[in-house]
Amino acid sequence: MPHSTSKDMIHIIGTGSYLPEQIMTNQELERLVETSDEWITTRTGIKERRIADKTEAASDLAIQAAKKAITDARIQSDQIELIVVATATPDMFFPSTACFVQKGLGIKNAVAFDVSAACSGFLFALTTVKALLESGPYKTALVIGTEKLSSITDWKDRGTCILFGDGAGAAVLQKQNGMQGILSTYIGTDATQTDILDVPGGGSRNPQKEAAIHMEGKEVFKFAVLKMIFATKEALQLAGKRESDLALLIPHQANLRIIEAIAERVQLPRDRIFVNLQKYGNMSAATTIVALDEARREGRVKKGDLVELVAFGAGLTWGAAMIQF
Ligand code: ACO
Repeated sequence: MPHSTSKDMIHIIGTGSYLPEQIMTNQELERLVETSDEWITTRTGIKERRIADKTEAASDLAIQAAKKAITDARIQSDQIELIVVATATPDMFFPSTACFVQKGLGIKNAVAFDVSAACSGFLFALTTVKALLESGPYKTALVIGTEKLSSITDWKDRGTCILFGDGAGAAVLQKQNGMQGILSTYIGTDATQTDILDVPGGGSRNPQKEAAIHMEGKEVFKFAVLKMIFATKEALQLAGKRESDLALLIPHQANLRIIEAIAERVQLPRDRIFVNLQKYGNMSAATTIVALDEARREGRVKKGDLVELVAFGAGLTWGAAMIQF
């Protein structure tokens, strides 16, 4: 469903991220499953990932990222009226992870809820919040992508355990006058392939079965390339922009080969495509916002720059957002 630019401009006024301290290298994975650093590096580009502590839940990672985003935005936390968390690894079935974030930040007068769209979750949340800020009484919102994927990883499945990591990213959004901000977002789903990437256990369908990621990698790969190219172009078109206008494309960090296939089709030089998957692997809903935060901190996003985020995930889902800083 397309969402085009409106008169109200919604700005990203701050970002923050939190990566757990513990690093798990490819060499450590070699001790768990039959794999090699060489295989993982050449097939995915990933060298290491972060693993959250046993005591940390998705909301704990989110709260750390949110605090940094609030500081970066130079606002008081009680200015936040809306908290939306995208996650595939909520603390528990209920309350929502957003409620735990609200509690952890001590914010009293905000509405908080979760959005579920797997790796596209942050873009679904961004789209939802943009619409609520534009149409509702809210002015300032916190949008978070947070994942503790290590809690649903099958550490015996070499086809999946090498790919994922834990982390969280947060953005403070504010309605402001001006021409810049989120120019467009685009989200979509295709529910004909719900079974190629799923967590079949743990929910009401199979409550007794252990919750673990199942994936048909090759099928997901093909879908990822097609839909990320499609979403990248759709969001550009909705914003009235061209590929050559982009200062930076931030794709979902699932596999370097997927990113390279996209780079070829959108005809962007390598230095305009952000890659950090070698350090963190795929952090699902946290990926694009952690990458945006890192890009900003590295000075790769300057005032006036046009940045596009694009992701795909289970569902199947896809999403993109055009942001002028
Ligand atoms: N180490 C060594 N060998 C392996 C490993 C491993 N970790 N994993 C698979 N292999 C083997 C396979 O068994 C196979 O061996 P065979 O030929 O003897 O049968 C061979 O390597 C090739 O396996 P493929 O699955 O064909 O490898 P492929 O090149 O497709 O790479 C990968 C697999 C990396 C998973 C790739 O398909 C991929 O990245 N897919 C997309 C994954 C993705 O983006 N997921 C997003 C999840 S998003 C969300 O919403 C959570």
